[in-house]
Amino acid sequence: MQKFPENFIFGAATAAYQAEGATKIGNKGKTYWDDYLAEQNVFDPSTASDFYHKYREDLEVCQAFGINGIRISIAWTRIFPNGTGEVNQSGVDYYHELIDTCIKNKVEPFVTLHHFDTPDPLFKLGDWLSQEMVTAFVDFSSFCFKEYGDKVNYWITINEPWSVVAGQYIIGHFPPNKQYDIPKAIQAMHNMMVAHARVVKVYVAGNYHGEIGIVHILESKYPISDKPEDDEAAMQEHVLANQFMLDVTFNGCYSEESLAVVKNILKQNQGELIIREEELEILSDAAQKIDFLGINYYASHFLKAYEGESLIHHNGTGEKGSSIFALKGIGERVSNPKIPTTDWDWPIYPQGLLDMLLYIKEKYPHYKKIYVTENGMGDKDLLTNETVNDDARIEYVRLHLSAILKAVEKGVNVQGYFIWSLMDVFSWTNGYNKRYGLLYVDFDTQKRYAKKSAYWYKKLAETKELL
Ligand code: BG6
Repeated sequence: MQKFPENFIFGAATAAYQAEGATKIGNKGKTYWDDYLAEQNVFDPSTASDFYHKYREDLEVCQAFGINGIRISIAWTRIFPNGTGEVNQSGVDYYHELIDTCIKNKVEPFVTLHHFDTPDPLFKLGDWLSQEMVTAFVDFSSFCFKEYGDKVNYWITINEPWSVVAGQYIIGHFPPNKQYDIPKAIQAMHNMMVAHARVVKVYVAGNYHGEIGIVHILESKYPISDKPEDDEAAMQEHVLANQFMLDVTFNGCYSEESLAVVKNILKQNQGELIIREEELEILSDAAQKIDFLGINYYASHFLKAYEGESLIHHNGTGEKGSSIFALKGIGERVSNPKIPTTDWDWPIYPQGLLDMLLYIKEKYPHYKKIYVTENGMGDKDLLTNETVNDDARIEYVRLHLSAILKAVEKGVNVQGYFIWSLMDVFSWTNGYNKRYGLLYVDFDTQKRYAKKSAYWYKKLAETKELL
């Protein structure tokens, strides 16, 4: 039996656009998802899990189930419907009430400022490729700090820069749906890190009492064989998706090692990265000031060398075995017969989380602390007798928590875990049949049903014992 430290946070995560719904209520402005999803006419995000109306009930459930932390995000377009300019008071009031309700229920809010939901007008200006976006994000964040800074203890600047840029410019399942444009992805990722750093600067200058950090998706990358070229492929994807941003997060600059790999990838993809002189100091300053790193971890990947043109197929339906992910000049993700996968082809590999935690401790020994800000298993749950017997999810979570405890035993400072997700939510590129929640949501009635995993998690949070 393994035991968690007394003050460990057993949290659950949500994100505004995926949980709140109410996309046209309270004078909310559009994000770049609204028109795109309406045009596609496949998934309707407008009600999602109706957290906008049901948060009081959901937070009471958190308290009843021993959940003492929640990730929420502030929908930028509830506060500034156009991204900049006029403030929408009903949006401002909504987040006051939401944050107050978290606190009232003794559920610590970890508040994210950007979780994939850029306002539409700023998206049209180029999103993270434009400087207007960066400046507008700093202004929005500064507004949130002034408004909520006295009651929020934990702020997250940006959720998963890599997923945003990979979705927008490499995989093509996030608007503007470009594929294989690796140079744009790298530039946007750099600009996001600059935006993060500028926001950290504003927070520190404001002398707020809380802590600030960033969340990265970090997936370990392994060669599928001992061939040197497969090793090279794994190393390249690791640098591009993990190390490049970890370097700047903790060291405030890109290491020679990362830059060499990224420059090579850029050369093969006919592109360049522009880093402005004035950004260097801001990046360096923020690296010294951030309080924590959030890690979102779901899967790791096994790679082999790949010489062909980039080719990707996103499995958004849960049809097992339909994913393809091969990038020119980098490598191809392949299945490892020894490792199980979810129906969405995500390898289930808790060792990858342990390896990543140990890697951070070794490579960036001056990191302060880590929260695992998302981890969970997407599945096609079936509601039977008002519950879901989600044993596979319980096992998934148990194995990942065990990996975290092993890391803690080896000296990694991990202080909390947030299961993705509190309730079933809208999945950006998979819609509603990929469910992760502790609470099953009937999306027709919005009624919640606690899954078996919710009772399991309750016991864990109460006893701190991982059986
Ligand atoms: C994370 C995101 O990358 O993965 C969440 O922060 C997302 O917003 C989660 O929902 C699970 O991904 P998916 O594609 O299965 O919904």
